[in-house]
Amino acid sequence: MSTPTRPTPRLPRRAASPAPAATTPGRTDDYLRFTAGFRRLTRIDLDQYKRAQMERRIRSFAERRGEPDLGRYLRRLQDDHVELEAFLDRITINVSQLWRNPEQWEVLRDRLIPELAGTGSVRAWSAGCSYGAEAYTLAALLRRQAERGRTFRAEVRGTDIDERMVERAREGRFTAADARDAPLAELRAHFDAEPGGGWRASPALRKLTTFVTGDLLRTSAPRGGFDLVLCRNTVIYFNEDVRDALHARLAAGIRPGGYLVIGATERVADAASLGLQPVQPFIYRKTEA
Ligand SMILES: C[S@@+](CC[C@H](N)C(=O)[O-])C[C@H]1O[C@@H](n2cnc3c(N)ncnc32)[C@H](O)[C@@H]1O
Repeated sequence: MSTPTRPTPRLPRRAASPAPAATTPGRTDDYLRFTAGFRRLTRIDLDQYKRAQMERRIRSFAERRGEPDLGRYLRRLQDDHVELEAFLDRITINVSQLWRNPEQWEVLRDRLIPELAGTGSVRAWSAGCSYGAEAYTLAALLRRQAERGRTFRAEVRGTDIDERMVERAREGRFTAADARDAPLAELRAHFDAEPGGGWRASPALRKLTTFVTGDLLRTSAPRGGFDLVLCRNTVIYFNEDVRDALHARLAAGIRPGGYLVIGATERVADAASLGLQPVQPFIYRKTEA
């Protein structure tokens, strides 16, 4: 399967060059200087995210770390990798869980997956996969489907901007809290119980899944390359324009007859213009190439 995103380079362990000043006349402020410097340091473009939310989050975090001056805080991030990791934890919001929004998984299990499996192939993409809970939940459903019907090809690709999450996803380990909404029978069938109440995805699930670091805002999926794209609880942090452009790229990556699943608080602004037809709340079928 083609790789949907290019890997983002590893976050630097050492200081990068000093932050440049923002250059747009009249728009220069310490927040924009911070985001410009942070972009040079990590390649993560915070200007694509909703400013009010992101700025509030960054300023309150920097203050709690004892450095309310964003210029000085940026220099600290450049010099201190542990601080950079803590900061990334704050801004990327990696919250996830197995079988998150169970009602969506019921539709996937009862309708989308049997239909797609009937075509002989399910190439799926968890876009903004965090530490892999969504991708492994999908892999478990695909395994169940394989036990029921005729053979089909299945693969689940997970991508996330946060390399640390991608590394965790490859491990496939989940806490008891991650599994709180997961059906116990499915957990027992597809995950191995670990000491302390946690679960690890079985080797069969891990074989179905691959995880790659990638920025959804810099790269796009191969045209029509996927039968199913899940992009849930990731665009909520983006500006509306950025969100809409991302939905358009995701839609282009889905073959006609394939599906896009979004988060239960999200919307696709103009689904029809992207060739997407709503079939259930937060689930769209691709109608045109
Ligand atoms: C709240 S988690 C959602 C995880 C999973 N999709 C779910 O619904 O449980 C959002 C994830 O989006 C990732 N993310 C944020 N901006 C991104 C970007 N530009 N490209 C790729 N991933 C991004 C974050 O690192 C985070 O892991």
